[in-house]
Amino acid sequence: MKTIIYYFTGTGNSLAAAKKIAAVLGDCELVPIASLEDTQGAIVPAADRVGIVCPVYFSGLPLMVASFAGRLDPAAAKYVFAVITHGGGGESAALRQLDGILRQRQGRGLDAGFGIAMPGNYILMYESPEGKKQEEILAKADEVIDDITGFLTRCGKRELPSALIPRVLHAVLYPWFTSHIHTDDKKFTVSDKCTACGTCVAICPANNIEMIEGKPVWKHHCELCCGCIHLCPVQAIQAGAGTEKRMRYRHPEITVLELKGKLEEKA
Ligand SMILES: Cc1cc2nc3c(=O)[nH]c(=O)nc-3n(C[C@H](O)[C@H](O)[C@H](O)COP(=O)(O)O)c2cc1C
Repeated sequence: MKTIIYYFTGTGNSLAAAKKIAAVLGDCELVPIASLEDTQGAIVPAADRVGIVCPVYFSGLPLMVASFAGRLDPAAAKYVFAVITHGGGGESAALRQLDGILRQRQGRGLDAGFGIAMPGNYILMYESPEGKKQEEILAKADEVIDDITGFLTRCGKRELPSALIPRVLHAVLYPWFTSHIHTDDKKFTVSDKCTACGTCVAICPANNIEMIEGKPVWKHHCELCCGCIHLCPVQAIQAGAGTEKRMRYRHPEITVLELKGKLEEKA
């Protein structure tokens, strides 16, 4: 059974989950949602099983994923699923948002949706867990991924989770956060430590960074994935004083090369 998984990732959690699911499902193509940004029109996957894997942002979908979902036409697929990675909650609201977009635009929603707790990466607000704590979260996440893949292998259907607090946060905070997310990169600065290596430019899923005179310049269509801050090899990128002391995070099994969009392996 042919599967296509579309994924969006900033620091590798969602890509790691997508890769693990793909490896078990077999005959599975992984497609970065970012790679479809410069295409137009409906996205019609040639697959029986279609998956979307992405992080939750402010109890909702990353804007690029919401816009992708509006173009996705999985009507020919036998099974459609979504997996939302998160740092503590809100995945139920993101799943319902995704289901709502698909139903409204294509008349066909999700057959199943899942959440996976992984290390939180919103460095503008907090520090990602590290050391033993991080290992424990990732080990638990692997167990959840095993359960999910068992379910996906047999194309199991289930009702989407629903929780009151994420629903309220989605209704109240998500519209506010997303109204200025593209220009939140105005907070980003680069220090003299920058070596102009171009990592930030290459990993940015929104193609939002340009190297001008040897320094990154943000172009105000940011998705706020925080990848540039986390992946800068010399920690030259900050977003205010808060990020200066916070450790950087990348999923330990995902390489910077993969995040640069060089993922070539197919499961
Ligand atoms: C802008 C932003 C908003 C976030 N909002 C939430 C949230 O509402 N709830 C939550 O549990 N985690 C939140 N997170 C954490 C991510 O969802 C989580 O770390 C995710 O696994 C990151 O996936 P990635 O490594 O594939 O980018 C947020 C992260 C960012 C960057």
